[in-house]
Amino acid sequence: MSSNAVLSVALLLVLAVLLVASPTLRKRYPRTWWYAVSFPILWGRIRFTWRRLAWECDLAVTRKRAHAMLGGILIKGKELDPVVPRLSMAWPRPLLVTVRARMLPGQTPDEFVDAAEAMAHAWRVHSVRVSSPARGEVEFTISARDPLENVTSSAPSGRKHHGRPWFRVSVTTETQESPGAAAAAQLLRIFVGFLADWNAWVLDLRLLPHWLITGATQSGKSTLMNAVVVELAPRPVALVGIDLKGGMELGNYTARLSALATDRRSAVRVLSYLVDVVLERTTQCRIAQVRSIWDLPEQIRPVPIVLLVDELAELCMATDPRDKADALACSTNLVRLAQLGASLGVHLLVAGQRVGSDLGAGVTMLRSQLSGRVCHRVADPETAKMTLGDRFPDAVDAAQGISPLERGVAVTTTNEGGWMRARSANIGAEQAQRITTDYAHCRVLLPGLSDIDLSGGDTTCR
Ligand SMILES: Nc1ncnc2c1ncn2[C@@H]1O[C@H](COP(=O)(O)OP(=O)(O)O)[C@@H](O)[C@H]1O
Ligand SMILES: [Mg+2]
Repeated sequence: MSSNAVLSVALLLVLAVLLVASPTLRKRYPRTWWYAVSFPILWGRIRFTWRRLAWECDLAVTRKRAHAMLGGILIKGKELDPVVPRLSMAWPRPLLVTVRARMLPGQTPDEFVDAAEAMAHAWRVHSVRVSSPARGEVEFTISARDPLENVTSSAPSGRKHHGRPWFRVSVTTETQESPGAAAAAQLLRIFVGFLADWNAWVLDLRLLPHWLITGATQSGKSTLMNAVVVELAPRPVALVGIDLKGGMELGNYTARLSALATDRRSAVRVLSYLVDVVLERTTQCRIAQVRSIWDLPEQIRPVPIVLLVDELAELCMATDPRDKADALACSTNLVRLAQLGASLGVHLLVAGQRVGSDLGAGVTMLRSQLSGRVCHRVADPETAKMTLGDRFPDAVDAAQGISPLERGVAVTTTNEGGWMRARSANIGAEQAQRITTDYAHCRVLLPGLSDIDLSGGDTTCR
């Protein structure tokens, strides 16, 4: 056999082995597979189809005129010799490719935005986003896969952190920040999942101090709460719960909660106590002549308190006339906490299936104070409108488009002031319970709520 034939057989063998082993290799080494195989194939496909695609999507122009007068008759002809926008080299990132194209005279980015769907189909990718980072240029951000497809397994590090098989983003604090601001950054940035642009989904309570989380049953509210709680559990932060569904949801975190109110009477007590705490902190800040607890010296800085409320409607809507006064007290106190708490280290995460004007004027006022919004799949259009419509009318459609199969997917406000689709990490109730039990020693004792306290605890967690 000639050496050429031997080489061909060897090559064929290698190809055959690769073909057989490809599903395993792809699963085991997704990143390497992407850079070594999927990305070059995708890039080849983009180059190969670009000219035809540009022509079909009216992105090609011709230097010749498209119509001409012939003996007084206007003739419109098909453009000949089309010129297509020139593509730059592709820039691969994990499961993402960015390519720039130089626009031709007369073109605007809008024409490329209109063609994005056709590009996604032609290149067989999840999505193509078009932006214009510089005059005369458009940039295509090509997502090979849906970033929200499976948040658990698309963890960038793949490392396990305390039984959390997802991801861990280290908190970096800018060195030029004051010590208080650095501490706030460490305690109040909560990583809960992924955004549709592949970035980490962070609830930053420094920027958006209070959150409204809505969604129908089985849409992913509790899973998001779980993600929040397991992130906060090891930190010196007091967690307080109000769950009027008999503690069915927040009861999983009992070991780490400073108090858990499961009926409206105790909810009123917890809320009144927190209002008192906020007023006390106001005095403390006034005496120290600072505007926020984070500007107080570390030795006297109080711990931040995160209040978790599950099922807002249960709390604020009473059918029994005897309960009406309590329900009103609850919504009034929630509004006060939201108004005063932001700089005083009291933050609200309020979840509900349905938020509507029928829950009372207090709820509409409360909503305006809850600057962070998360809307999962909802059962009625009004809830989507109430959650997002006042700030992002265009996000309402996106929220209503979430299908029942997309559990954990939500439309969220972003720290940059916009909105985006996101998916929380899939943290189940058992996992949340296990982790909160492991961090029971971090539970913060809140004097004044001792009879709603659940077990002994201290504030030694650092
Ligand atoms: N981020 C997610 N990724 C994958 N599955 C999820 C996610 N969030 C929720 N789920 C699935 O949806 C189910 C219902 O979620 P849950 O948080 O209990 O909804 P809700 O509290 O809104 O009723 C969970 O059991 C889980 O299987
Ligand atoms: Mg739930």
